[in-house]
Amino acid sequence: MLKGTALLTFMLSLLAFLLILVNGVHCFGETKLLKLQQFQWKQKWDASSCLPQKSRKENDATILEMKHRDFCYGGGIKYWNKLLQKHLILDDRRVQSLQARIKNMASSKTEVSNTGIPLTSGVELGTLNYIVTVQLGGRKMTVIVDTGSDLTWVQCQPCKSCYNQKEPLFNPSASPSYKTVLCNSSDCQSLAFATGNTGFCGNNPPTCNYVVSYGDGSYTRGELAHDHLNLGNTPVDNFKFGCGRNNKGLFGGASGLMGLGRSSISLVSQTSAIFGGFFSYCLPSAQAGASGSLVLGGNSSVYKTSSPISYTRMIPNPQLSTFYFLNLTGVSVGGVTLQDSSFGKDGMLIDSGTVITRLPPTIYKALKAEFLKQFSSFPSAPAFSILDTCFNLSAYQEVDVPTIKLQFEGNAEINVDISGVFYFVKTDASQVCLAIASLSFEDEIGIVANYQQRNQRVIYDTKESKLGFAQESCSFT
Ligand SMILES: *[C@@H]1O[C@H](CO)[C@@H](O)[C@H](O)[C@H]1NC(C)=O
Ligand SMILES: *[C@@H]1O[C@H](CO)[C@@H](O)[C@H](O)[C@H]1NC(C)=O
Ligand SMILES: *[C@@H]1O[C@H](CO)[C@@H](O)[C@H](O)[C@H]1NC(C)=O
Ligand SMILES: *[C@@H]1O[C@H](CO)[C@@H](O)[C@H](O)[C@H]1NC(C)=O
Repeated sequence: MLKGTALLTFMLSLLAFLLILVNGVHCFGETKLLKLQQFQWKQKWDASSCLPQKSRKENDATILEMKHRDFCYGGGIKYWNKLLQKHLILDDRRVQSLQARIKNMASSKTEVSNTGIPLTSGVELGTLNYIVTVQLGGRKMTVIVDTGSDLTWVQCQPCKSCYNQKEPLFNPSASPSYKTVLCNSSDCQSLAFATGNTGFCGNNPPTCNYVVSYGDGSYTRGELAHDHLNLGNTPVDNFKFGCGRNNKGLFGGASGLMGLGRSSISLVSQTSAIFGGFFSYCLPSAQAGASGSLVLGGNSSVYKTSSPISYTRMIPNPQLSTFYFLNLTGVSVGGVTLQDSSFGKDGMLIDSGTVITRLPPTIYKALKAEFLKQFSSFPSAPAFSILDTCFNLSAYQEVDVPTIKLQFEGNAEINVDISGVFYFVKTDASQVCLAIASLSFEDEIGIVANYQQRNQRVIYDTKESKLGFAQESCSFT
């Protein structure tokens, strides 16, 4: 009898203990483990391992190796700390110029002034981070990938003014297949749409001159031309691109830019007969020096995804035809779904060139509150730049971090990888911030940025107008 009571008492106290444990330690939310010692911030770069990036063909798909350029061209900047902080400041400028461009285009103001000198037509470039290597006119060219612009261009000889690049300049006279585009062609006309600046006529021969100027004062000017392009052994004849003779900006040693936007001059449109308007990428993180991939065409058999692909509709936006929009219908933190009336109201931009995801102020506020509630046992740290939810994690080897999921129309979901939850303002983890920020105003356009797209397969199906997401640990092989 006594034995039975003792057992019961024991069982009851065990139950009480378990209840206290569960409630007291908040272990009811979904978490992912962040190993802090795994971040090895390399301070010496081996640029030679980045040039050129590799490529291959598999099951009708062209697969281009893609790396974060900090890992390749960072030699000039001594420390990650500085670099990481600089990126945030440039990111803010990119978003401001994006918002300005969107406002301009939406109110359909022409962006060419009386004197024919173009106003800003592109967006800030300093944060474009991922590079691939293609072959143009038989020469290897390493270019920055941008889903937020259309015209592909390289620096060209003879050059009036060029920034420093690692590879030799493109030399048109060394390529027999190089031809300029005439200014009365429809391609020249289509530039107005793609770049915000109409092409204008050079004299004798009347070639099509282009100019793209970006939000930070960077620009490229030159002639529109076409040549033979080779994408990982897939030939593309008569590929139209800008041969840039006067270029300035923060292109970080790359030879030019690849435009993966939506208008007719973009690489996606120009190759749609080959790749079916289909491309996808997996963005690796920078500090590990890992490779990712840009896949053109093919089907899902070439991906290394570890979860099913979920698709959402691309939201049409006739005035902003360069950009890709989708419909954010929800966010969850540690499995807790946030409630906010502004979900699903406006299209949100998905951009590979913005670093930090921007949410409307009310949604961000709800996200921050829930995250702080679940991550309350860690010491806080000061805000930095646009990031205001920061922690000092320098005393920890590893921490359990609440999961963050972004949900889109049609039950599609980005399950944010652990490498995309925090931004390390300081490499010693004494200032680690939630890598999501608030827009300044409720009516600005939200942006799904590249930190939250890391280690995901992000699929753009422009024919079917849909975007797909699945988890994938990025690699090239
Ligand atoms: C993918 O492409 C390969 C090669 O073209 C083909 O054999 C395979 O059946 C395709 N898979 C799907 C799911 O369509
Ligand atoms: C463009 O101009 C060239 C001569 O400068 C002419 O031969 C050609 O027919 C014109 N093309 C169009 C589409 O008008
Ligand atoms: C987003 O999706 C929701 C739910 O399907 C829908 O009610 C809403 O109208 C959509 N918003 C846009 C901008 O299409
Ligand atoms: C961060 O935490 C560590 C260990 O708890 C402490 O020594 C250090 O002073 C803190 N750093 C800052 C910047 O607060």
